[in-house]
Amino acid sequence: MSQKKLIFGVVGVVIIGAAAILYSTMRPSGPAFIDPADQTLVMQGKVIYANNCAACHGASLQGQPNWRERMPSGKLPAPPHDKTGHTWHHPDAMLVDMVKNGLVPGKTAPPGYVSDMPAYGDMLSDQEIIAVLAYIKSSWPPKVLEAQKEVTLQRQN
Ligand code: HEC
Repeated sequence: MSQKKLIFGVVGVVIIGAAAILYSTMRPSGPAFIDPADQTLVMQGKVIYANNCAACHGASLQGQPNWRERMPSGKLPAPPHDKTGHTWHHPDAMLVDMVKNGLVPGKTAPPGYVSDMPAYGDMLSDQEIIAVLAYIKSSWPPKVLEAQKEVTLQRQN
């Protein structure tokens, strides 16, 4: 092999390696978009929601009464997850994070924020959290779902 060919070969390998590393670091972790068209996922999520979330967020995702007003404790009631709430304003990655870790001050909430939202990281698997979000999303009208999809995909670029 001539020296020139060898150099080209080495440069090629380096470029491919760098591209592979770049691709793997840029690739978003988790699904690109949690899709409520997946009926199996939605049905699984419905059961998880009823058992874990309905007590606060309401059996039909309606939230607690007067959910915009702080309680005497200073904390906010549970908001609805249907189209009247603000769950759909957030990208999927953030929703997964909030269910897994609760509302973390300085991360998914303002510094010093205190909230009644529990952390489910020890109780639900990632797959179960995705399922419950798919169920929540299945209540959103197409326009709301489309808007949230845009927010989700923007966040991952
Ligand atoms: C003990 C009551 C309680 C339970 C049970 C509960 N939540 Fe919450 N959740 C809250 C409260 C209260 C908030 C609002 C927190 C705040 O702003 O202080 C909240 C907020 C959220 C948010 C953020 C909504 C937004 O618009 O910012 C998501 C997402 C969420 N909950 C999902 C869930 C899911 C999914 C479950 C079940 C696996 C669940 N919650 C169970 C009380 C609860």
